[in-house]
Amino acid sequence: MLQFNDVTFSYPGKNFPLMQDLSFQIKKGEFVCLVGHSGCGKSTIFRLVNQLLTPNQGEILVNGKNIAGQKNYCGYMPQSDLLFPWRSVKENVMLPLEIQGKLSAKERNEKAEEALQMVGLSEWADKSPAELSGGMRQRAAFARTVMTGSDLLLLDEPFSALDYLTRLSMREWLLQQWEQDKKTILFITHDVEEAVYLSNRVLVAEEIPMTSLSSVEVPAGYPRTRERMREPGMLLLKEELIDRLRRKDG
Ligand SMILES: Nc1ncnc2c1ncn2[C@@H]1O[C@H](COP(=O)(O)OP(=O)(O)OP(=O)(O)O)[C@@H](O)[C@H]1O
Ligand SMILES: [Mg+2]
Repeated sequence: MLQFNDVTFSYPGKNFPLMQDLSFQIKKGEFVCLVGHSGCGKSTIFRLVNQLLTPNQGEILVNGKNIAGQKNYCGYMPQSDLLFPWRSVKENVMLPLEIQGKLSAKERNEKAEEALQMVGLSEWADKSPAELSGGMRQRAAFARTVMTGSDLLLLDEPFSALDYLTRLSMREWLLQQWEQDKKTILFITHDVEEAVYLSNRVLVAEEIPMTSLSSVEVPAGYPRTRERMREPGMLLLKEELIDRLRRKDG
């Protein structure tokens, strides 16, 4: 589904690369979490995938084809929810459809209402984002991301600003959506427990520049329950990931 082939990237004006010959791939339908230290370049990977940035060398493929020249192949939820305060919740969710310009106003409205129903925000459609709680804003931003209609979703720390209990229910909710829709999800988090709970596989960024990502399989199927997190394999994996990330501190 998504493939990096020997990608090298540095921000203009910086003389050291963030990524050097980085290769990895994500299969269709996988839920993959990406963990790594702050500043190691995780969000940059997303900006490269959605072409906000361009690699210095190497290529990025989606569905086997170079992303240059492709459109609407991924939905991106940036690190902050970035809902536009002057648009209602529904108008925010509708935005990707307006940009695509394929549907009539009536069709866009129907689609946005469906998406809001899916995330349980129908009654909030006409409110402004400021009137929503943090969890509701995240759900609205998620609905907007799904509205792109893309099979590949890039979610950058979508739950990090939420309180613990809201985060737990958002994780459960996201897994339900994923099991229903069979999208491919790449999810950035700092929270090792969240990574283990959600994903098929965890990618660990261990160094700067990133030259490779270690891939660790999560030894549990779906549906995931919180009880499964107490299984020895899951606890071990969590410790192993913490260890890997700590080692780089020293
Ligand atoms: N527009 C930019 N121009 C120059 N340097 C940048 C730019 N954006 C990010 N950087 C630098 O690139 C590095 C990686 O940034 P990035 O946002 O990808 O990190 P991250 O792994 O997502 O971090 P965090 O976990 O804190 O979100 C950082 O050192 C950052 O300062
Ligand atoms: Mg980031």
